[in-house]
Amino acid sequence: MANEYIYPDINDQITLSLINKTELIAGSWEQDELSILAWIKEKLSHLDPDKAVLLDGGCGDGRLLPHFHSFFKKIYAIDPDSNRLSKAAETSRKLGIEEKVVFINAALEECEFELQFDVIISSHIIQHVQRHLVDKILSGCFKHLKPGGYLFLMTSYSTKSADYYVKDYFAENNFVEEEISPELFDSMVSNSEGILPVHFFSRQSLVELFQNNFLVITYMQIFHNTKNNPNGRDIFVAAEKPI
Ligand SMILES: C[S@@+](CC[C@H](N)C(=O)[O-])C[C@H]1O[C@@H](n2cnc3c(N)ncnc32)[C@H](O)[C@@H]1O
Repeated sequence: MANEYIYPDINDQITLSLINKTELIAGSWEQDELSILAWIKEKLSHLDPDKAVLLDGGCGDGRLLPHFHSFFKKIYAIDPDSNRLSKAAETSRKLGIEEKVVFINAALEECEFELQFDVIISSHIIQHVQRHLVDKILSGCFKHLKPGGYLFLMTSYSTKSADYYVKDYFAENNFVEEEISPELFDSMVSNSEGILPVHFFSRQSLVELFQNNFLVITYMQIFHNTKNNPNGRDIFVAAEKPI
């Protein structure tokens, strides 16, 4: 499946600048991320590595492959941005695991698989897709998970009672974050102006999304407390497909 999509944050320049400007102390963003990955690894340690199959839905440059590959026999790594997917393929070659990774250049909501996965990871994806696709992505995760399978999802978190939307960009080399309307967010999801639109999900809207798609939430953790988002900028949701 060929794809024209290019993730607007080329080489993660906007995100890196956000981290530099807003993390509480140097390295705290990374430490928070690692503590979520450690939680996931503990769960994965109960799987049979000779059988388990992972879908890394929106793998980007393969950042998670070094953390998770040893828990799986086979990994399907998908991303609609072919450049980022090539970097993921390079990562897998460096790790010597290219034989067990299948790379697919596609968006999560477009994918149809014959098999069902033991685990689906969707790390920092749904905040960057048009609103109407989020439910489609969750229903695809339900469909493509084995009964009893795990979904691990990270996304941007709204500490307000409702969702909100921002655009992140550089103005005169400074990182800027500006609130925008949901309609503008949808229209900007794919742009070549160096603007990264982000959807912040409230707890309530995430709970509804998971419930509507019959996925049972087992754990939630807010993380990435920053100067701009002292009560947390991101949320981790672990869920299971009932048996
Ligand atoms: C913030 S990066 C996260 C990458 C990786 N999951 C990680 O945690 O490092 C967002 C990624 O989402 C991908 N993406 C955007 N729309 C997507 C979609 N509809 N389905 C799957 N991935 C998507 C982008 O191409 C980009 O690689």
